[in-house]
Amino acid sequence: MNTFTYKYPVTVYFGEGAAAKNLPAELEKVGRNVLLAYGGGSIKRNGVYEELTALLTAAGKNVTEFSGIMSNPTYAKVQEGAKLAREKRIDFILAVGGGSVIDCCKIVSAQAGLEEDIWRLENVEHGGPAAFIPMGAVVTAFGTGAEMNNGAVITNEAEKIKGPLWGAFYDFAILDPAYTMTMPMRQVISGAFDALSHCMETYMGAPREANLSDEINEACQRNIIRNLRATLKNPQDIAARSELVWAAAMGENGILKIGKATDFQAHMLEHQLGAYTDCNHGQGLAVIHPALYRHMLPEAAPQFARLAVNVWGVSPDGKTQDELANAFIDALSAFIREVGLPTSFSEMGIPEETDYKAIADSTVLTGGCCKKFSHEELLAVLNECK
Ligand code: NZQ
Ligand code: ZN
Repeated sequence: MNTFTYKYPVTVYFGEGAAAKNLPAELEKVGRNVLLAYGGGSIKRNGVYEELTALLTAAGKNVTEFSGIMSNPTYAKVQEGAKLAREKRIDFILAVGGGSVIDCCKIVSAQAGLEEDIWRLENVEHGGPAAFIPMGAVVTAFGTGAEMNNGAVITNEAEKIKGPLWGAFYDFAILDPAYTMTMPMRQVISGAFDALSHCMETYMGAPREANLSDEINEACQRNIIRNLRATLKNPQDIAARSELVWAAAMGENGILKIGKATDFQAHMLEHQLGAYTDCNHGQGLAVIHPALYRHMLPEAAPQFARLAVNVWGVSPDGKTQDELANAFIDALSAFIREVGLPTSFSEMGIPEETDYKAIADSTVLTGGCCKKFSHEELLAVLNECK
């Protein structure tokens, strides 16, 4: 195991009724001017907006709304939020939504107090923001685990880059599985696959030998697979949904990363696919993962073989390590088909004329894994995904 420091700053309020129980006390700690941030309006259709605005009113808050945060949030939207936060002298941001709203607000919180452009500060000057508007997250779509970390994935349309910006951690996150019950099934499935992907990408990093973080990780993967299957059988299964919401949070709360390097090569590639096509994140990952992993044989064979046995229940009897590694990729591919995720970019509706070379060439090459990809090989992966 590598040396590590573990400190975790986000208070998690989990369970049905968590907002009514905990938000009033949290609101007492913050100033009067609150930015209520949300997406395209799902919270107005499922009662979450009404419940939260009633709690904000009861707490005597002066609420400014910041709405219309799109999936794959843009840098322009971040700047719109930061301007609003400055103008309205916002004391506290309540972000209500999935990864897109939660990510956008992390950077609004940082940009609002900065004179300079945060994209330039972080990516050109390699500095970082020092002051943030405090924030709370109310999760309505699980999967990304964005509420648990301080990284945000933002699309800079001018630069054609969907990349990370670093903001603050949320002071608290409210995870009420009931709030996620109105998610469209397509998003439930892609959110669950995203969570599974985070586990796998973390697993692939060094050290590669069996270790406690990876053994907890294997349990998370089994849990996501089992509970997505249960959810597909009965979409109203709140027990299965609760497990999925927490398993997704576990993927990004740092516990699986303790003592490890991580490798997010599938994510880096999918993010650039998103920069060029604005595609759904979990769906893009589902198409990329099996193709990318076939390119990682034989380097990743020991880890793939462990996943075959410990996560996918493949019997090791009479099988070589390579056979088991192949069985893992086969099981993952079969699961992707079983749950109705796409298996090609064309199935996702991505146009044939997409500039895959530009996507491959602009993808960050990660170094955490057993195999270091080149841009040329990533282009080969993308071509196999078409
Ligand atoms: O915008 P509204 O109307 O709210 O609709 C949303 C949106 O259309 C809908 N939705 C959310 N909660 C709902 C609901 N619909 C009905 N009932 C509810 N309770 O779901 C749609 C998708 O929401 P979005 O937030 O875009 O999805 P997701 O949570 O998958 O977030 C995706 C973004 O997160 C980034 C992705 O790249 C992408 O930009 N990621 C962030 C990460 C992080 N910060 O750690 C890690 C991930 O790897 C990921 O890259
Ligand atoms: Zn992801």
